Amino acid sequence: MKKVLLSILRDKNTDIKKFREVSEKLALILAGEVGEFLEKEEIKIDTPIDKANGIKFKNDIILIPILRAALSLVPAFLMFFEKAKVGFLGLKRDEKTAIAKLYYKNFPKIKDTDDVIILDPMIATGGSGSQAIKLLKEDSVKEEKIIFVSVICAKPGVDKIKREYPKVKIIYVAQDKKLNDQQFIIPGLGDFGDRYFGTL
Ligand code: PRP
Ligand code: URA
Repeated sequence: MKKVLLSILRDKNTDIKKFREVSEKLALILAGEVGEFLEKEEIKIDTPIDKANGIKFKNDIILIPILRAALSLVPAFLMFFEKAKVGFLGLKRDEKTAIAKLYYKNFPKIKDTDDVIILDPMIATGGSGSQAIKLLKEDSVKEEKIIFVSVICAKPGVDKIKREYPKVKIIYVAQDKKLNDQQFIIPGLGDFGDRYFGTL
């Protein structure tokens, strides 16, 4: 299912309505997948006729969407993690240098036990993702408590993040091999934020 949905996103003929619909569906699948990696604890449940063993997520969840493109993923994640606090990071790549500049940061209070999920559908050079992790670490978040959720990552970017932060878990739908001269993912899907928000 993930690859079918991703193929629609990659297609340059996919219009904005379809792009939004499909990225939101993909986000639901990714949110479900993240659940597999979060710590659980056992609980006892009374069914209408007997007792049963069950599980629940052990820790509180913090979502950190990187603006803008990750806004597309937030509603799906909140559907599963209804009580998650949401912190925002505004990072924008300079069109010439492709270096991401921080323009907004608003993190909630993050406890040691919280599981922190960074959302960004695209990892290209890895510069934005790496900055996001650095800022979380400056807020005393441990690497091993961070899960990074992406849709397409380019190998150079994911390699950079893994090299700098080896304990961060990275989940993605596809890994593309390279970047072009403008540091866009090849083949990629173009500019996610522009396609989702119609700012092409
Ligand atoms: C895009 C994308 C990532 C970043 C990835 O955002 O959504 O945040 O680039 O590139 P990197 O790995 O090389 O840092 P962009 O800066 O275009 O901002 P936008 O979402 O507001 O369009
Ligand atoms: N950001 C995007 O949205 N797409 C790319 O290919 C690279 C960065």
